[in-house]
Amino acid sequence: MNITFIGGGNMATALIGGLIEKGQAAAGIRVVELQAEARERLGAQFGIDCVDSMAAAVPLGDVILLAVKPQHMRIAAQALQPLLTRELVISIAAGIRLIDLSRWLGGYSTLVRCMPNTPALIGAGISGLYASAAVGPAGRSLTESVLGAVGATLWVAEESLLDPVTAISGSGPAYVLYFIEALQQAAQEMGFSPVDARKLAVETFVGTARLAEQSPEDVALLRERVTSKGGTTERALASMEADRVKGLIVRALHAANQRAHELGEQLGTDG
Ligand SMILES: NC(=O)c1ccc[n+]([C@@H]2O[C@H](COP(=O)([O-])OP(=O)(O)OC[C@H]3O[C@@H](n4cnc5c(N)ncnc54)[C@H](OP(=O)(O)O)[C@@H]3O)[C@@H](O)[C@H]2O)c1
Repeated sequence: MNITFIGGGNMATALIGGLIEKGQAAAGIRVVELQAEARERLGAQFGIDCVDSMAAAVPLGDVILLAVKPQHMRIAAQALQPLLTRELVISIAAGIRLIDLSRWLGGYSTLVRCMPNTPALIGAGISGLYASAAVGPAGRSLTESVLGAVGATLWVAEESLLDPVTAISGSGPAYVLYFIEALQQAAQEMGFSPVDARKLAVETFVGTARLAEQSPEDVALLRERVTSKGGTTERALASMEADRVKGLIVRALHAANQRAHELGEQLGTDG
């Protein structure tokens, strides 16, 4: 495939690295990036063509991947609009709705919106994907090739479901890290050095996540299996239940979902 990235920051770097690792030819990748330093870094790291304007990237290829910050998207889209022909345009910008992106692109409709998360930086992300009605099976397949290069993908049937995707998996790494912090803090309070406490906490998470991933069983059942009657796990879980920890986490996720919705409204304005 021939693909042009608009914006060559963290996410674009992760996607380019993933694509090349999966066999995509460097000659088929081009990046439009305003920062000279970033252009040099990407060129040296991947041997790809990096340019400083969209006009210099024409022809834009099969896919254009918009990877600028949400607050820069309107300006970038308006600059891109006159150059579009029949490309598939994929946006990974958090919160930017397709109705707004399409307006900034002069009514262009072959659009896909994605919500990746930070583990994409090490090829272990999960991205929610939503395609507009104008995108056919070929466009969906191209999208899966691009976002699938940095982890798992999940299509959603309605764009509004990208708000909960943002709340669960987009913001999710922060909640997981918060829980790791709690395990680490407790381990330190019980006598471990910060290094050893971190190791105990992180490896517990990595191993349990892998166990859940590889097991066909319900996660609640897996949890019950490590909770023997009268044991330590039971004591800790009873304490968490008494403090309604799970309910409070669920409530926090609803707050994140609400915030994702609000940000979508704010970011879509033309001001
Ligand atoms: N990082 C994540 O985990 C994550 C997760 C989900 C979604 N996303 C989305 O991914 C997008 C990119 O995030 P990021 O962390 O990779 O951002 P980033 O590191 O700031 O990269 C964006 C790059 O694009 C450049 N740029 C800005 N306007 C441009 C234009 N008109 N033409 C060409 N280049 C332009 C920026 O230059 P300047 O520095 O000069 O502005 C910057 O170098 C964001 O929309 C974000 O919402 C990121």
